[in-house]
Amino acid sequence: MSDHKTHFGFSTVDESEKAGKVAEVFHSVAKNYDIMNDVMSGGLHRVWKHFTINTARLKKGDKVLDIAGGTGDLSRGWAKRVGKEGEVWLTDINSSMLTVGRDRLMNEGLILPVSLADAEKLPFPDNYFNLVSVAFGLRNMTHKDAALKEMHRVLKPGGTLLVLEFSKVYKPLEGVYDLYSFKLLPVMGKLIAKDADSYQYLAESIRMHPDQETLKQMMLDAGFDSVDYHNMSAGIVALHKGVKF
Ligand SMILES: C[S@@+](CC[C@H](N)C(=O)[O-])C[C@H]1O[C@@H](n2cnc3c(N)ncnc32)[C@H](O)[C@@H]1O
Repeated sequence: MSDHKTHFGFSTVDESEKAGKVAEVFHSVAKNYDIMNDVMSGGLHRVWKHFTINTARLKKGDKVLDIAGGTGDLSRGWAKRVGKEGEVWLTDINSSMLTVGRDRLMNEGLILPVSLADAEKLPFPDNYFNLVSVAFGLRNMTHKDAALKEMHRVLKPGGTLLVLEFSKVYKPLEGVYDLYSFKLLPVMGKLIAKDADSYQYLAESIRMHPDQETLKQMMLDAGFDSVDYHNMSAGIVALHKGVKF
């Protein structure tokens, strides 16, 4: 045990324990992850990801790193944008999520380089990628500041980071959003993924994640410039964008 504590949902845990607990969640949900996403969000996650993919200014031949890429939704979008001459890495710290993602893309005829990688210690050289993306992953990381610095390191000067993440919902909607998150979500998790706890963690981790302005400041602190964000679905999610100069 160290003196360094962090949160795992609403629980306080030793920093050294968090990654293991997050790993349990994603090993458990991997097989049902995609269906749960569709059911929980009523398909909205597809719209959020579509918007993210269309926000990026990519050209054929560009290099893209998808961090915490899981089952590969963004990687698929990036691969279409950069074409065969480009390079898209699907990476994640969790082998179960990555295996589902790799197989799913392969079944669609898309073979991408796949790497088991911790966002806090990326196995890539400095100044390599034109774009780095992380969708619904940052929330789960123990040292978000270290991960953001790594994302900055591997980007080329002029490169862009896109962070798609749950954020702070508009105040008038808080009550109904809480009801949905803490009452309905765990029940859906239990019925579909046979795992209520992981979806309880999802709801809690969203509440503990930095809000729009705090994340913006964290990206500035990590060295990004021109940082801004775009709220979607009344702030349920936000897309943050930062540029490495
Ligand atoms: C909610 S899923 C998101 C998957 C995918 N990006 C999407 O939007 O559907 C979160 C992912 O973050 C990954 N993750 C958590 N901590 C990580 C870390 N330190 N480095 C890399 N990936 C991590 C998990 O393994 C999981 O696959």
